[in-house]
Amino acid sequence: MARGVVLLALLCLAASAQLAAAGAAAGGRKMVGVYELRKGDFSVRVTNFGARLMSVVFPDSKGNLADVVLGKDTIADYVNDEFYFGPITGRIAQRVARGRFVLDGKVYHMYKNDGNNTIHGGGRGFSKSIWTVKEYVAGGDSPYITLYYRSFDGEEGLPGNVDAYVTYRLSAPYTLALHMNGTALDKATPVNFLLHAYWNLAGHGSGDVLGHTLRLSASRYAVLDEELLPSSGRVVPVDGTLLDFRRPTAIGARIHKVVSGKGVGYDTNYVIDGEEGAMRPVAMARDGASGRKLEMWANQPTMQLYTGNYLNHTKGKDGKVYEKYGGFCLETMGYVDAVNHPEFPSQTLRPGQVYRHDMVFKFSF
Ligand SMILES: *[C@@H]1O[C@H](CO)[C@@H](O)[C@H](O)[C@H]1NC(C)=O
Ligand SMILES: *[C@@H]1O[C@H](CO)[C@@H](O)[C@H](O)[C@H]1NC(C)=O
Ligand SMILES: *[C@@H]1O[C@H](CO)[C@@H](O)[C@H](O)[C@H]1NC(C)=O
Repeated sequence: MARGVVLLALLCLAASAQLAAAGAAAGGRKMVGVYELRKGDFSVRVTNFGARLMSVVFPDSKGNLADVVLGKDTIADYVNDEFYFGPITGRIAQRVARGRFVLDGKVYHMYKNDGNNTIHGGGRGFSKSIWTVKEYVAGGDSPYITLYYRSFDGEEGLPGNVDAYVTYRLSAPYTLALHMNGTALDKATPVNFLLHAYWNLAGHGSGDVLGHTLRLSASRYAVLDEELLPSSGRVVPVDGTLLDFRRPTAIGARIHKVVSGKGVGYDTNYVIDGEEGAMRPVAMARDGASGRKLEMWANQPTMQLYTGNYLNHTKGKDGKVYEKYGGFCLETMGYVDAVNHPEFPSQTLRPGQVYRHDMVFKFSF
């Protein structure tokens, strides 16, 4: 069985190698590779396979370096990844109820890869597509990489061609910024991207994140049902619930009482306080033992907090194994299933319109 999976991975890579050759011949760069960005003892690795964030390394106060992002060793391992370790997901991130929506009177059907619903773009989505490296500066003051993907008309059942870009950039000490954008080229289409990185500030594979302290700039959340869909459309205060992280609170303080879908733990869609569209504080997380801290800003309306509820002895990088709650995701994005909820801000772009998603992570110790 395992051998079959590996073989499939190799076949996929062979196919991508052919794509790469075709891309190179056409003047583009379609090779699958791993790209490091480095600024002193702060380094980040990205692959153009799914525009994935593969690692983020920085020290603690004693100078001990740790990689704080969960991931896989090789691109072949990412081909079979079911946990979405580090990718940009799209064209419609998060869930679409019944894999179906209506736009301008026409019904669209997507591949259902999450029970009766679609998650993270469907079968292949952006996360298993090969992006083109547009620009890459490995070092210097502001190392960065820009990746580009042309999402084609009909891809995963969706209308129109879309140009998607993501730039990962290191700046000021220990700061990682992402800029994503999407342009509808010829038809109206929904667009909603997110970064699905799992963080563990003690170092990936070092145990669970239940002792991390988390603070969220979120006084409300969108109620999700047992399929993790916002079927009621209700947005309610966190006040007095197990979901309230407005004051710094251990991730594990109440997690065992939180039921999300079929799992126990957070898989919660928070509405971020403040002016939508403006860059504003989203989250702060800190690991007490190492002192490593992450602060995050973004310009999106919501953020899904996911605490790795389904990780289960999952094989990761460097011989590490990820257990339940081994990492947490801070997925800024639009509202979940907005395509089926007119009461939520629309994610539809008309031809020529541009979607922009900015995120900033500031690490310290
Ligand atoms: C899918 O929907 C059907 C009919 O509503 C239901 O019986 C079934 O339990 C659902 N499957 C999942 C995985 O939720
Ligand atoms: C999208 O981002 C890329 C890379 O950062 C940039 O070159 C491009 O101008 C942006 N597109 C739009 C329409 O803003
Ligand atoms: C975790 O994996 C083990 C071994 O594959 C399996 O027996 C168990 O049911 C899984 N646990 C959950 C919660 O899925």
